[in-house]
Amino acid sequence: MARLSNDFLSEIKYRNDLVELASSYMQLKRRGRNLVGLCPFHGEKTPSFNIYTENGSFYCFGCGVGGDIITFVMKIENLDYMEAVKFLAQRAGMSMPEDDYDDSLGRLRTRIYEANREAARFFYSKLMSKEGADGLGYLRGRGLADSTIRHFGLGFAPDERFALGDHLRSKGFTEAEMTAANLVFKSKSGRGVLDRFYNRVMFPIIDVRGNVIAFGGRIMTDQKPKYLNTSDTLVFNKSQNLFSLNNAKNSKSDQLILCEGYMDVISLNQAGFTNAVATLGTALTAEQASLMKRYCKEVILCYDADEAGQKATARAIDILRRVGLTVKVIAIPDGKDPDEFIRRHGDKGHAAFQNVLDNSGNDMDFRLFKLRALYDFNTPQGKLDYLNDAVKLICELDNPMERDIYASRLSDDTDVAKPTIMEQISRGIRRNNYKRRKTEFSQIQKNISARDDRVNPQHADNLRAASAEENLLAYLINNPDKLTYIHERLSPDDFLTDFNRKLYIYFSDKILNNTDPLISVSADFSEDERSKIFRLANSYPDMPHTVQALDEFIGIIKEEKSKPTDSEIRNSTQDEFASLFSKLKDSRQ
Ligand code: GTP
Ligand code: MN
Repeated sequence: MARLSNDFLSEIKYRNDLVELASSYMQLKRRGRNLVGLCPFHGEKTPSFNIYTENGSFYCFGCGVGGDIITFVMKIENLDYMEAVKFLAQRAGMSMPEDDYDDSLGRLRTRIYEANREAARFFYSKLMSKEGADGLGYLRGRGLADSTIRHFGLGFAPDERFALGDHLRSKGFTEAEMTAANLVFKSKSGRGVLDRFYNRVMFPIIDVRGNVIAFGGRIMTDQKPKYLNTSDTLVFNKSQNLFSLNNAKNSKSDQLILCEGYMDVISLNQAGFTNAVATLGTALTAEQASLMKRYCKEVILCYDADEAGQKATARAIDILRRVGLTVKVIAIPDGKDPDEFIRRHGDKGHAAFQNVLDNSGNDMDFRLFKLRALYDFNTPQGKLDYLNDAVKLICELDNPMERDIYASRLSDDTDVAKPTIMEQISRGIRRNNYKRRKTEFSQIQKNISARDDRVNPQHADNLRAASAEENLLAYLINNPDKLTYIHERLSPDDFLTDFNRKLYIYFSDKILNNTDPLISVSADFSEDERSKIFRLANSYPDMPHTVQALDEFIGIIKEEKSKPTDSEIRNSTQDEFASLFSKLKDSRQ
């Protein structure tokens, strides 16, 4: 990739403030010079996402992701490097330097968006044509108004194997582009490409920026698979997107209704509930929960009434709570899912569903209710077991008032004195806090060391040297004026681990060219690498940073370098071994 000039990148970073930008996606609290918040990139309850105002970077100790404002945009908007730079340039009212860079991946993404949009148009026009009569009949038969069909851009894939491929080819799309969009696939017989979707009604999946990123297609009979979805592509990841979030985000509600299927969402929209979304045929993920958190405070779970739906509800409650959302649960009184419920109530669909919404319990009601059914209250043991499990649930509530309310109810329900229950709850909370801190801490350690091993495989075998190298690099990044001092004492050859040596050369080069050493880390390193680099750069305030400390880092690196390596010892002849051995003994004294 030909590169953007450092001046241009500096300007981008100068004109875009990471704190301000991040605040539009998450809540941040000031802590000393830094800001902390719940990480938007993984689910967590205690904030471990840090923004370092000094150098405009971030690092999450929970999932180990870090970077600068460009990395942040890449991750949160799901863009590649060039797209993220463009996004920030636009935001700051700057124009991009003329196309002097190779943007082939970015171009392919753009082509996939275009192919998808063209495919959506094609499917829609087929639905409205004679060929699509079955499809249109099917959708109307399911109670959808023509305006709803148009609003969602629903379509029909004809019962042919080359229809879409031929159409896209006539519009100038290459087979490689259509394949990358997962709209066609190579036929086994080698006869070109075949359409992925045929004889199905089509549901375009549109992201929050209005791009058509994928499709779901439903067969109109009882055949399997009932729904066929686009596989993951360069522009689509099914576990990171939600159906109809593009509509829901404009609904001006601070609640989202989460259902299981496309048809549920569409029926809800038709009945006036535009804040409905659905997962895309997979169980809810932490990423989807974080995504919802950007657009709402509370999620109303509205899964199917069957057993699978109830299991999924229990799971989803955990995931949603973990990203800090409050949760309510709807029980559909009669009917399998929201779509069927609304249809059953015909014209009164809106009022009927509103009534269900108004009577939705919060997630604790749901869980206590499910729990209570498991125990036999006629035996003391059954009651005791219920109490213990119920107290465990109540302990998970963050709000003391809520805990108090549920303790009262539990007391009434079981005839056990409320203070006794409160006492148990306090104990449980202490135990949970301790456990949570412990597991979060060990998770952090695990994440960091797993990544460090990937990025710098020599780290584990050279712990002492590698950590001195990292301290030295952190020192250098934060004290570029000390470059000459360091260069006079330490050459790249002195480094024991290749990755840190590479960084030493890289940062030295930046500093010699009078640029911020971190300016283009987002372009030059992989995600794991840049996370490690930003952790290292931001560890500086916590490490000793006097010149004496610097001398010590240099000393350790040189000392470790002078030690014979394991392989030197293995490969040496007897004589050499004796001398190596004494060298080793000397260096250990
Ligand atoms: P309808 O029968 O059209 O009302 O479907 P539904 O919306 O009630 O769907 P269902 O509850 O059966 O499934 C919920 C969601 O799971 C669907 O919207 C799809 O996203 C997904 N899904 C269902 N069946 C399949 C399948 O066979 N394959 C895949 N990949 N996804 C499916
Ligand atoms: Mn259904």
